[in-house]
Amino acid sequence: MDTKTKYLGLEIESPIIAGSCGLTNDISNLEKLEAAGAGAVILKSVFEEQIIYDIKRNLSMMAPVDNYGMSYEYVAAHVADDSLNKHFELIREAKKRLHIPVIGSINCYSFENWMTYTRKFQDAGCDALELNMAILPYETALSCEDVDRLFSDIINTLRKSVTIPISIKVSQNFTDMANFMQRLSWMGVSGITMFNKALNVDIDIDKMELTHAPSLSSPDEIYNTLRWIAILTKKLRCDISASTGVHTSADVVKMLLAGAGTVQVVSCLYKNGVDYMKTLNEGLKEWMSSKGYDSLSQFRGKFAVKPNEQASMFFRTQFMKHFAQL
Ligand SMILES: Cc1cc2nc3c(=O)[nH]c(=O)nc-3n(C[C@H](O)[C@H](O)[C@H](O)COP(=O)(O)O)c2cc1C
Repeated sequence: MDTKTKYLGLEIESPIIAGSCGLTNDISNLEKLEAAGAGAVILKSVFEEQIIYDIKRNLSMMAPVDNYGMSYEYVAAHVADDSLNKHFELIREAKKRLHIPVIGSINCYSFENWMTYTRKFQDAGCDALELNMAILPYETALSCEDVDRLFSDIINTLRKSVTIPISIKVSQNFTDMANFMQRLSWMGVSGITMFNKALNVDIDIDKMELTHAPSLSSPDEIYNTLRWIAILTKKLRCDISASTGVHTSADVVKMLLAGAGTVQVVSCLYKNGVDYMKTLNEGLKEWMSSKGYDSLSQFRGKFAVKPNEQASMFFRTQFMKHFAQL
């Protein structure tokens, strides 16, 4: 049974990848994930806010003595390097101990830091980089064109400055989803991860305060991902990696049938432990064997949108009268 595939130009033994999260921030988990058959691991994102926070904390400690003065830039650069180096240590360790691809992940908000940090990630030795560009368009002043420009400026500049493959992890919030994903794929990225799951906010009506909604996905969140992958897989010029709502090996199979090249899992690893990666891989192989498939290419994309009746079901957002009466 062959579950080999390619992701971002890298040979991998399984299409099931450990997605970016706290679990992938730890070398022993990374080793367990490899042992359990993960095709690749995507490390926890480095967030620019985290680094800026470290810089501010350090500066506030030295402020009474120095009042920042000329040393601001020096200290800021030093603290940023220090914060990043802790993470790069994990990349170097993972590259030493693992055989599967180690993919870095980064989330910035300033244009300059996208450039600076990304180059440093490449130097640290990761095999590829996932740009966590899950931007929620919450500003009324932000138009589709602004979002478009933001993405294209960052991607075009990064592509010129780094040589490792780059994938973009996007949110579920775009007005022109199909059109925009296609244009992203034309910008020369190697992959698009659809989708990041937004950390939702809830309101505690007893304490009268804001709180976080559960951070783990539920199994029924798979359907939105499944729909968009099926619709877009034949239209993009890059790999598609599925993320959000994959909890079982049956879900992995569905994503592959919809056309995903790889399938990322996170919440199910939190719920069942990192060794659950083995169950997912075994389940995929069992299903392939039950259907008489020897390789992924024999069934991948079987349900991707083509001009036929069955696939057009992915376009419907409401039951048509005809179905509603059944
Ligand atoms: C605790 C936790 C931490 C996460 N941290 C990151 C992160 O650092 N970077 C990132 O791109 N996604 C992060 N994610 C999002 C996941 O990578 C994934 O896209 C999301 O959880 C949906 O996949 P799932 O349904 O398999 O959980 C995190 C998710 C969880 C639950």
